[in-house]
Amino acid sequence: MLVSIEFVGVQFYLQFYLNLICGCPILFNFIYFIHVKIRRENEGDEAAVQAVNESAFETSEEARLVAALREQAQPLISLVADDEGKIIGHIMFSPVALDGHHELKIMGLAPMAVVPERQHQGIGAALVLEGLEACKKLGFGAVVVLGHAAYYPRFGFVPSTQFDISSEYDVPEDVFMVKELTPGYLDGAKGTIKYHAVFGSV
Ligand SMILES: CC(C)(COP(=O)(O)OP(=O)(O)OC[C@H]1O[C@@H](n2cnc3c(N)ncnc32)[C@H](O)[C@@H]1OP(=O)(O)O)[C@@H](O)C(=O)NCCC(=O)NCCS
Repeated sequence: MLVSIEFVGVQFYLQFYLNLICGCPILFNFIYFIHVKIRRENEGDEAAVQAVNESAFETSEEARLVAALREQAQPLISLVADDEGKIIGHIMFSPVALDGHHELKIMGLAPMAVVPERQHQGIGAALVLEGLEACKKLGFGAVVVLGHAAYYPRFGFVPSTQFDISSEYDVPEDVFMVKELTPGYLDGAKGTIKYHAVFGSV
C-alpha cells in the first residue's frame, strides 16, 4: 500500500496549496480527504475501476483501454483512490517509446478518472502525485500525458515542444505534455512518442 499517515499530511498541504489558488474552503476538502487512500490496484478491484472510468468518461472506451492495458502492458502502474473501501478514482501509467531513443524509460499517463460526485476535491491531484512518485521508484525518467492543458502543468508538465518531442497523434501542441522525473533526462532527445499498441486498438 502506498499510503501512510504522511500521505494525509501531504494531501493537506496540497489541498491547502490548491485552495490558495482556487479559493475553495480548506476544511471542507480536508474532511473529504481524510479517509481517502491512494493505493495500488489489487486483484478484485477491476470491476470498480471499470465503473469509475465509465462514470467519468462519456464512452466506455477508456474503461476498455484500462482492461486491455492491464492485460498487455508491462510494467504497469495502476493506482486507485479508495474511500473506506469504495473506489472513487483511478490512474494508469504504461510505458511509451521515443523513436530513436529506446533506451529511455518513459511512462505515459493515461487514463485517469475521478467519479463525477467526487471531482474538484484534490483526488485527481493525489493520484497524479502518487503516480509520478511510483514511476520514479520504478526507474522511469520522464512521463508524458495527452490531456487538459489547464490541468497537468500544475504538476510540472510542460508542452512537449519544449523538448522537441511530439505525439504520434495529431493533437494541438499544448495538450501533449512532458515531465522529467530526473532533471536533464531528456537532454538531446528528440522524436515521436509511441504509446502501447492497445491505444490504437480499443
Ligand atoms: C480530470 C479529473 C481526473 C480531475 O480529477 P479531480 O479529482 O477533479 O482533480 P482535482 O480536484 O485534483 O483538480 C480539479 C481541477 O482539475 C481541473 N480540471 C478538471 N477538469 C478539467 C477539464 N476538463 N479541463 C481542464 N481542467 C480541468 C480544474 O482546474 C479543476 O479545478 P477546480 O476544482 O477549481 O475547477 C476529473 O475531472 C475527471 O475524471 N474528468 C473526466 C475524465 C477526464 O477528463 N480524465 C482526464 C483525461 S486527460
